[in-house]
Amino acid sequence: MVDVHLRSVTKHFGKVTAVDHISLDVEDGEFIVLLGPSGCGKTTTLRLIAGLEKPDEGRIFFGERDVTLLPPRQRNVSMVFQSYAVWPHMKVFDNIAFPLRIKKFPEEEIRRRVKWAAELLQIEELLDRYPAQLSGGQRQRVAVARAIVVEPDVLLMDEPLSNLDALLRVRMRSELKKLQRKIGVTTIYVTHDQVEAMTMGDRIAVMNKGRIMQIGSPEEVYNKPANIFVAGFIGSPQMNFIDARVAKRDNSIVLDTGFAEIPVPKENDKLLESLLGSKIVVGIRPEHIYVARREKNTFPLKGRIDFVEMLGSDTILHVDVGGKILVVKLSGGHAFSVGQEVTLYIDLSRLHVFHESGEAIF
Ligand SMILES: Nc1ncnc2c1ncn2[C@@H]1O[C@H](COP(=O)(O)OP(=O)(O)OP(=O)(O)O)[C@@H](O)[C@H]1O
Ligand SMILES: [Mg+2]
Repeated sequence: MVDVHLRSVTKHFGKVTAVDHISLDVEDGEFIVLLGPSGCGKTTTLRLIAGLEKPDEGRIFFGERDVTLLPPRQRNVSMVFQSYAVWPHMKVFDNIAFPLRIKKFPEEEIRRRVKWAAELLQIEELLDRYPAQLSGGQRQRVAVARAIVVEPDVLLMDEPLSNLDALLRVRMRSELKKLQRKIGVTTIYVTHDQVEAMTMGDRIAVMNKGRIMQIGSPEEVYNKPANIFVAGFIGSPQMNFIDARVAKRDNSIVLDTGFAEIPVPKENDKLLESLLGSKIVVGIRPEHIYVARREKNTFPLKGRIDFVEMLGSDTILHVDVGGKILVVKLSGGHAFSVGQEVTLYIDLSRLHVFHESGEAIF
């Protein structure tokens, strides 16, 4: 097991900067998720760590060891791909044994290790089958077994669950996470699925355009997004963003949205004092707006329902407030109808404010 460090790693493909000065510290035994939209450089980052690509700038360390220029086989990493990449002409046993045979392990050790990996992934019954005789989920288990059988220092996974159906994906999430806990292997896991990231990661590195926008625990990236990108990428439905200006009323700072003057918690006054008159962006998550339920420290806004999404467990309202649509998430089913007047209560303790540039103020 090993800790992994990226120091200002950059990779260009022609004119495209796929990875742009990424620095990242992954602790020994940690499960870190690289999360971001398509094309943001997740796979390229993994391939750099695996040694399948060479960086144009920067260094990569495994512990104290500088591995930047080492070929993959000298790094002791394993990678699991989205496409299972199991060999169709080999039985499951031989697929899992393959990396051990390459390393010329004795046959007895191979049998012992394949059994160990197969038990962990609950595929002992399948060792005699060919991949064509397996379901997608079973094939992916074989791919994971093959990856862990060498006891890698670092396990890299690139969207390993995205070819599975929704139910299986949910089950495999917790299974993979438990497996990682059990064997304690340092893991870097790529996904563009925020729920997967939130449920599996010890920490999440949120990426955009080749850069890391924030690294933190799931709780941190959700509660304290460092910028508008992270705030908008984490959470579903997306956080509401409202353009506003910092103003002063009766000696208190307010956020003037044009249709309302939203007060800010006193302790944040100081942060905004120097921004009087400036444009800012107010952020409030759909689950932090309440309807017809006045609670302490909320701010009322009158609106009209524009659209209702009944999801069974939740109800999503789109509410027109002075020409701006705010999305509201209520748990449970509710009988609202389009055109109905409602009063929304914004939870002021959950308010986010961002500079126009996108950086969070609080
Ligand atoms: N071998 C390559 N040659 C040229 N451009 C590449 C190559 N590999 C990646 N790129 C480009 O680098 C950028 C990052 O690609 P990468 O595959 O790392 O993104 P990603 O975050 O994994 O996306 P996805 O979620 O779609 O898999 C993209 O613009 C991509 O087109
Ligand atoms: Mg990718």
